[in-house]
Amino acid sequence: MTTRYLRRYGDATRMNHWFVVLMFLAAALSGLPLLHPSLYFFSNVAGGGSWARILHPYMGVLMVLGFTLMFFTMWRDNLLNADDGRWMANASRMLKGDKSNMPPIGKYNAGQKIVFWMFGLSLLLLFVSGFVFWRPWFVGFFPILLRRIAVVVHAASAVVLVLSVIVHVYAALWIKGTMRAMTRGTVTENWARFNHPLWHRKMTGGE
Ligand code: HEM
Repeated sequence: MTTRYLRRYGDATRMNHWFVVLMFLAAALSGLPLLHPSLYFFSNVAGGGSWARILHPYMGVLMVLGFTLMFFTMWRDNLLNADDGRWMANASRMLKGDKSNMPPIGKYNAGQKIVFWMFGLSLLLLFVSGFVFWRPWFVGFFPILLRRIAVVVHAASAVVLVLSVIVHVYAALWIKGTMRAMTRGTVTENWARFNHPLWHRKMTGGE
């Protein structure tokens, strides 16, 4: 029997996703040495402390620009609905292997949707707060109290983003066959039928 595939992402979406991943790694590895002295060794990746400090904001802005493109093509599919409440209520049972109470899932499950909005919120806060203390360009426009608040917001949002990415990557690796969606752009019909039955029905016209 031949395996049948369904298209999940176009080439431009996938290239942009991997661009965002690269910029995330660059921003994270140049930002962590600025967060705490124990993480200073990460600055070697950028070529030393000064380069980490200079490059970090540019990498961050590029990541936000790439994600903004993803956001505007995907936000509709990530709106939460009543079934997502049921999904969350039964998520702990699903993690133990019991999927009997899970509602039928569309293009994304509730976990993916929550991670999507965590990405959006943390990146928005990182972007806005980062400008407030970006020396030497913008810092002079803002009072010292606002700059201090911005530093705390920036650090807290960075932690939320990193944790969200860890959950995102773990889920992508945990559900067998998912990585293919972002490496080839396609998934097997069985993967879709098993993990996203409503999306499968939409894509196959109810076959
Ligand atoms: C090495 C790191 C990463 C890997 C391996 C990875 C992998 C994947 C995979 C396999 C999918 C397809 C999931 C599906 O269609 O069901 C996906 C979707 C997606 N990824 Fe990533 N990803 C990574 C990092 C990131 C980062 C850093 C961001 C943004 C900050 C991001 C944002 C997204 C978004 C928005 C989607 C669309 C799915 C959704 O809206 O939930 N990814 N990723």
